[in-house]
Amino acid sequence: METIRIFDTTLRDGEQSPGATLTYAEKLEIARYLEAMGVDIIEAGFPISSNGDFESVRQIATEITGSVICGLARAVPGDIDRAGEAIKPAKRGRIHIFCATSKIHRDHKLKKGRDEIIDISVRSVQQARQYTDDIEFSPEDASRTELDFLEQITQAVIEAGATTINLPDTVGYAMPHSYGNIFAHLIARLPVIREKGIILSTHCHNDLGMAVANSLAGVENGARQVECTINGIGERAGNAALEELVMALRVRRDYFNMGTRIDTTKLYPTSRIVSNLTGLTVQRNKAVVGQNAFAHESGIHQDGVLKFRETYEIMDPATVGLPTNVLVLGKHSGRHAFRDRVQQLGYNVADAQLEKAFVAFKALADKKKEVFDEDIEALVDDQLKIDNGLWELTGVQVTSGTNAIPTATVTLRDSNGQTIRDASIGDGPVDAIYSALQRLTGVHCSLTDYRIRAISRGTEAQGEVQVELEHSGRKVRGRGLSTDILEASARAYLAAINRLRALAHRKHLLTGSSGV
Ligand code: KIV
Ligand code: ZN
Repeated sequence: METIRIFDTTLRDGEQSPGATLTYAEKLEIARYLEAMGVDIIEAGFPISSNGDFESVRQIATEITGSVICGLARAVPGDIDRAGEAIKPAKRGRIHIFCATSKIHRDHKLKKGRDEIIDISVRSVQQARQYTDDIEFSPEDASRTELDFLEQITQAVIEAGATTINLPDTVGYAMPHSYGNIFAHLIARLPVIREKGIILSTHCHNDLGMAVANSLAGVENGARQVECTINGIGERAGNAALEELVMALRVRRDYFNMGTRIDTTKLYPTSRIVSNLTGLTVQRNKAVVGQNAFAHESGIHQDGVLKFRETYEIMDPATVGLPTNVLVLGKHSGRHAFRDRVQQLGYNVADAQLEKAFVAFKALADKKKEVFDEDIEALVDDQLKIDNGLWELTGVQVTSGTNAIPTATVTLRDSNGQTIRDASIGDGPVDAIYSALQRLTGVHCSLTDYRIRAISRGTEAQGEVQVELEHSGRKVRGRGLSTDILEASARAYLAAINRLRALAHRKHLLTGSSGV
């Protein structure tokens, strides 16, 4: 059985989702999960795009040894040198060069002719070979490029030393049959692909909801690498979802006769960590990792599953690492049982984080009779949030109700350990809290999204609030958790402000520009 290489670009194309900016430490944390899951190649960033991106690619290349670490570059000398430097510490490093090839990009974006584009691409590949033998080349917008030009440029960059040719459906325009044909065509027309053992790769965007279907059509026609992201996040409507591709290849092994090296039990925990750190919620009906992916509502379906699971379930939830939603622990449970359960839920948690989560669990078990797997996941997710070390919420008191002017008093601890407190009125209790937080932090931004949901069942369930804030054109998200929804609202808002400050601080340190 042949193996399909999984090239994960959550940290590069995925991070291009609006509002999904990740800090340096968050990228490293996600890279650890990707390595543990068995991802073959991690595209860690676009080193020329910022000093922060350069540093995170470099750090990931230093620490992660189980996957190939890749840096993206345009076909521009400065980009290639920067990517080459960033991947230098990697045990196995790759440079991924892209240059647009479709007529629409040639005429309107690059304003260059075919020969010049071939020339630039060849020189870029030759330059990149000074850093590594593992070179990937992408003719950007390949799916809208004339086939004869695609042949020409593919032949030229292979001769210059490219070892992987990726054919992006950059704008999500292709249909499975036509996209598959591009692979079949190149393989039939270019013997060099077989002779040199060149790997062809898919990279599909989801603008028409075809990203996974198109990627699989590529595989059926000779692609042996698929580029994808966790939860399908990415530019615009996103990229092909890693978990869907991996499970399609596994569940329909009878059809594809191919596999991957992914440990599928890590899919669900990795999906959670990515959603938690990017703030991009996974839709309930999302295939494989959505909350409803294994829920059966119809009586007929429930009856069928109880009689024989496979009547209505094509995957066992345990194969993707989904917890069983049972009542697991209570206030008498000890550290050991808690640690076991956290590990069974698929987390790799450092001792200090586990200890903090255990303390939070005990506090929750005192407030709430039944502690479910979802509660434990939410608590651990909360500990995994990377501590930005700026402001910490220590108290919220609110007065509101009919005929009362909503008033909030908020207390914070700042990074010097000083306690600061202020009060404000608002249109409602959440507005009053947010206005007090703006006064305390001095960060004024607009709230562009506010969502609230119950983590588990019953009126005593923990509430999770997710917010999106906008400041000077930059969007950031934050998440807060508590059995008190007003406290959860304050936590979410403060998390977003802390993230804004951390990103601005990083930029300030690295470029000298002003912060928030
Ligand atoms: O979608 C695209 O074309 C890309 C390239 C950089 C590979 O992301
Ligand atoms: Zn892309």
